Amino acid sequence: MTTGMDRAITLHQPKRLEFGMGAAARLGEWAADFSRVLVLASPRTAPMLGKLGLTGQVTLFPDVPPEPDDRALSAVLEIAARVEPDLVVGLGGGSVMDLAKLAACLWDGAQVLPDVVGPNKVARRLSALAQVATTAGTGSEAGIRALVTNSATKAKMAVESPQMIADIAVLDPELTFSVPPAITAATGVDAMAHCVEAFTNRKAHDLIDGYARQGIALVGRYLGRCVKDGTDAEARAGMMLASYYGGVCLGPVNTAAGHALAYPLGTRMGLPHGLANAIIFPHVLAFNAPARPQKTTEILRSLGLPASDVPATVLHHAAGFCRALGLEMRLSAQGTNGDDLPAWAAEAHAIRRLMDNNPRDMSVAEVEAIYRAAF
Ligand SMILES: NC(=O)c1ccc[n+]([C@@H]2O[C@H](COP(=O)([O-])OP(=O)(O)OC[C@H]3O[C@@H](n4cnc5c(N)ncnc54)[C@H](O)[C@@H]3O)[C@@H](O)[C@H]2O)c1
Ligand SMILES: [Fe+2]
Repeated sequence: MTTGMDRAITLHQPKRLEFGMGAAARLGEWAADFSRVLVLASPRTAPMLGKLGLTGQVTLFPDVPPEPDDRALSAVLEIAARVEPDLVVGLGGGSVMDLAKLAACLWDGAQVLPDVVGPNKVARRLSALAQVATTAGTGSEAGIRALVTNSATKAKMAVESPQMIADIAVLDPELTFSVPPAITAATGVDAMAHCVEAFTNRKAHDLIDGYARQGIALVGRYLGRCVKDGTDAEARAGMMLASYYGGVCLGPVNTAAGHALAYPLGTRMGLPHGLANAIIFPHVLAFNAPARPQKTTEILRSLGLPASDVPATVLHHAAGFCRALGLEMRLSAQGTNGDDLPAWAAEAHAIRRLMDNNPRDMSVAEVEAIYRAAF
């Protein structure tokens, strides 16, 4: 495989993007011709429905939980089968937008979740799809992936298909004003992690590196401001853009060891996805520094940190960046006694779809050492 710019890759993006203050209200104009609209939301985002200006027959499902599992998807599909929507709207964070993607493709029951896990298994799209992001983190609105937790095994199942790309994505910073500081910080680090892990990835590509660089720099410039003042419109817009760019990075390149190591913390400990990523991020960046010295230096500089490619220094500054956002970075303070770390290390190591992307091979013992260091 060539590792140069000439390597063929495919990038899917939403057909239309509405960005900036007031963008939410423009969804209604775009959607005027749809007659049966199903809006998915979480309890926190459901009250924003009125901002979208939707007409026609609108059904609201306001109960998408964070980190949704297959049972949450079933509840959504049940409503969708009744509504037979010609438009599905995801109004929320990654949890809501991921289920909106699946709802738009699966509500007729011709395919069920186990049929579509993995790449390119979704046969067709049944409804138009609009994604209205209310967090700046996952970049789910930009991409073709949906993550659902397996309620039996607690593993994340990834569905990936171009059938799930949005017809329209709406990025209105005002919708993120109400995100509390802790969730702002955690989701913002998730956006950065998407960019960083794609940028340092074994499959990194120049087409994506441009988005990654911009995303990391936006996080360096604006995330702290968003945490300090949730109504800072410019900073919130900057983070929505960073999140979108992170989503673009996820498509053709995707994440690596950082996300793989974060997954057990999310599924086993119940940590929010962004917080789990934040706890792991400094350690993996430092571990990978010897394999990507220039890019590691560039990342630190973009985040406004002293440039370095020395692992211990990288770890120190990257962890300091997260702590300055108010994030509790010690695993031991998150409600685990550490007994399960070996089991989680084996579990993370087995997520080969991500671990194989890492620029440096990581053994099970090295994964466990990172968990211990984060403890
Ligand atoms: N599709 C992808 O490519 C992709 C990428 C990364 C993560 N994910 C998935 O996305 C999910 C996490 O998404 P997330 O980090 O956006 O969090 P989330 O959607 O779970 O939301 C986190 C919490 O914030 C609340 N919230 C959302 N918007 C709010 C607002 N504007 N004001 C106040 N509260 C608000 C939600 O109700 C929820 O309680 C996970 O399931 C993760 O696996 C998907
Ligand atoms: Fe993520």
